[in-house]
Amino acid sequence: MITSAPNASSASSPQGGLRQTIAGVSVAELARAHGTPLYVYDAETIRRRCRDLTQPRGNHVWDTVRFAQKACSNLAILDLVRREGVVVDAVSTGEIHRALAAGYSPHADRSSSTDGLPPVHPIVYTADIFDRDALDEVARLGIHVNCGSADMLEQLAARVPGAEVTLRVNPGFGHGHSQKTNTGGEGSKHGIWHADIADVMRRAEWAGIAVTGLHMHIGSGTDLAHLAEVAGTLEKVAREIGRSLTTISAGGGLPVPYRPGEVHADLGGYVELWNDTRRRLEEAFGHRLRLEIEPGRYLTAESGFLVTEVRAVKNQGSRKYLLVDAGFNTLARPVMYGAYHPMSLCPADAGPTSPAGSGLREEVAVGGPLCESGDIFTQTDGGFVATRDLPVAGVGDLLVIEIAGAYGFVMASNYNSKPLPAEVLVDGGQARLVRARQTPADLFRGETV
Ligand code: LLP
Repeated sequence: MITSAPNASSASSPQGGLRQTIAGVSVAELARAHGTPLYVYDAETIRRRCRDLTQPRGNHVWDTVRFAQKACSNLAILDLVRREGVVVDAVSTGEIHRALAAGYSPHADRSSSTDGLPPVHPIVYTADIFDRDALDEVARLGIHVNCGSADMLEQLAARVPGAEVTLRVNPGFGHGHSQKTNTGGEGSKHGIWHADIADVMRRAEWAGIAVTGLHMHIGSGTDLAHLAEVAGTLEKVAREIGRSLTTISAGGGLPVPYRPGEVHADLGGYVELWNDTRRRLEEAFGHRLRLEIEPGRYLTAESGFLVTEVRAVKNQGSRKYLLVDAGFNTLARPVMYGAYHPMSLCPADAGPTSPAGSGLREEVAVGGPLCESGDIFTQTDGGFVATRDLPVAGVGDLLVIEIAGAYGFVMASNYNSKPLPAEVLVDGGQARLVRARQTPADLFRGETV
């Protein structure tokens, strides 16, 4: 266990791209104790982001904050958000099992029904299909389902007669930070098409299924202007479904600032907008409605740091490359979406004679160890190599890739037979290993010759 460095400074704003600590713990110590590449999460940042949404803003508050655990599903993180009163979404049998292992109960506790609101489902399975094991587990455990296709309704009805479900509706438009994260419109496979609701409601009735929830999620990493459009469409579809509804969900997609100059969204204005939608529907239906939000990235992105070590520095013609020991096997967002992650440097030696200690900076491309040219962290959408202005670095310095706590570790792979990295949670100045690095034996477990 590593403890806080004495007089450690706050980790939140590295000076000139240099970073010595994460949440008060020395980056060099973390790397020494756990090796690199290493994911490090700051528990307090996650708590703060949970409270941004669980505490009232002005006169309004979300009744339920549901973490889209696909963003960062380590058990320790799920346990942390559970203690903040945040429930979870699961998109697979594996995510259902993770939620149970982290202490969530499979179904609603009637005592969570307050002020005329329906009880909270601690876990909701959200998908466009049931793979066979998911259908078995959902039926066995009584997990509430958010159905993204009418086929799901009928498959569930055959196993759980009289089940209550949520419908995930595709509102006909969507938006995301990349076309690959846009989950609405004709270009998206997600959700039940908004114009098909009457037909799907008929199929639900024939199957003996009650539609109690309505959910829309238009995309990930969008902006509030696009998200706000969802409220109007949801209201229209809700009126079509009618009084059986007891819960409405705004979905996820809350943005976080990745690039310099980007700021946090106006969460007060957002909850107010949704609260107004809820009130109008409550008046129309004559009963209370639970209002949910389902963020992934917002709760964990800023808490996460990927600590890597510089292993080579070289020039390819006029372009300089820093090659680190993490690649797109460790953090896939840059190669998949051209995503931008801030970077900082923790020099192995910050003395005046070390490159990093000199105060000099340079434009460099940052890449990883994989045997593939696309293994570049500084790339733009379309795969073009870009550069970053960083303090001059040498072999042995630690490069920290920031805002990596959402869709980081969870999208890591064993490509090139590289082990999955370790994960560490820092809380109150203490660093705790919450997932061990894979061993060489883990890499071919289950294989036979
Ligand atoms: N709800 C549903 C139904 C979703 O499909 C998602 C994300 C979320 C909530 C959470 O969205 P968030 O609040 O995190 O934006 N790998 C991509 C993101 C894919 C998101 C998939 N669904 C990335 O790294 O940007």
